[in-house]
Amino acid sequence: MELREQGADCALYKENACIGRARWAGDTLETLEIAPAWRRRGYGSYFLKELLRRRGGFARGAASCFWAAAPQGAAAAALLAKFGFAPAADGRWRRQVTPDLSAVAFCHEFLAARLRPGGLYVDATCGNGHDTLFLCSLAGAGGRVLGLDIQPAAVENTNRRLAAAGYAGVGRAVLCGHEHLGRLVAPGTADCVLFNFGWLPGADHAVHSGPATTLPALRAACAALRPGGVLAAVLYSGRGIGSGEKQAALEFFKTLPPAQYTALVCEFANWAGTAPLPCFAIRRG
Ligand SMILES: C[S@@+](CC[C@H](N)C(=O)[O-])C[C@H]1O[C@@H](n2cnc3c(N)ncnc32)[C@H](O)[C@@H]1O
Repeated sequence: MELREQGADCALYKENACIGRARWAGDTLETLEIAPAWRRRGYGSYFLKELLRRRGGFARGAASCFWAAAPQGAAAAALLAKFGFAPAADGRWRRQVTPDLSAVAFCHEFLAARLRPGGLYVDATCGNGHDTLFLCSLAGAGGRVLGLDIQPAAVENTNRRLAAAGYAGVGRAVLCGHEHLGRLVAPGTADCVLFNFGWLPGADHAVHSGPATTLPALRAACAALRPGGVLAAVLYSGRGIGSGEKQAALEFFKTLPPAQYTALVCEFANWAGTAPLPCFAIRRG
């Protein structure tokens, strides 16, 4: 099976024979047809799924919205419904995907609402660089982002991701334990220090953060914040990780002096007790 696209026109080929055609008008799928001899064999589903996938319709954690012209007949309506389209007020059909709120997404939304471009942002657990990239997008061309990790693969992945996104001039990852943050960031200068604790996805799960380094790192992060700056941390617990780090970090947030920091622990109240826990400390002005 091969999908060939030329501008707004798309064709589905099977062994060099065109068996389906589709046409987009912006984000509206105007037509999708499978040649009569190939109908009722799943090719329509394959075609529509691939068209949506190529446009980010199945990207994990991403919002998307697509439209389709009103379907002609029950089979066309069933195909659209199968992929989440539903009739909209204007007669077209709409497929809207709003990602579930995750602990990390919640942290990102909180930071995006409070922080402004420019300044110094630290990703204290850069891992595969998704959070570092997000911080770069907040910091903008006038800001600076520093990523830290103890695993060389994480540092390489992050720097590769930043370069591919055009942020090599804004952000950079270095091999350094976050407990040594104070060696790299002067006190009172950081707009944000972000921790996404745990292990590196796709790597050895035996290598993960733990209370012995997490507590000094949280202290160093607080010292690094400028007035108004935000420390954000996603805490994990459960199999492999245990709950020692989460309990120690929770105690840390709960005992921060209120005259200097506003501390928040944001629980997903109807999730399991092992659900990730977003926490924040805002340095008071
Ligand atoms: C959940 S991952 C981070 C995910 C990452 N922010 C991303 O967007 O892909 C946790 C990371 O923390 C790192 N880590 C563990 N202990 C650390 C320490 N003491 N200092 C810095 N990084 C550490 C791990 O190597 C791992 O890459």
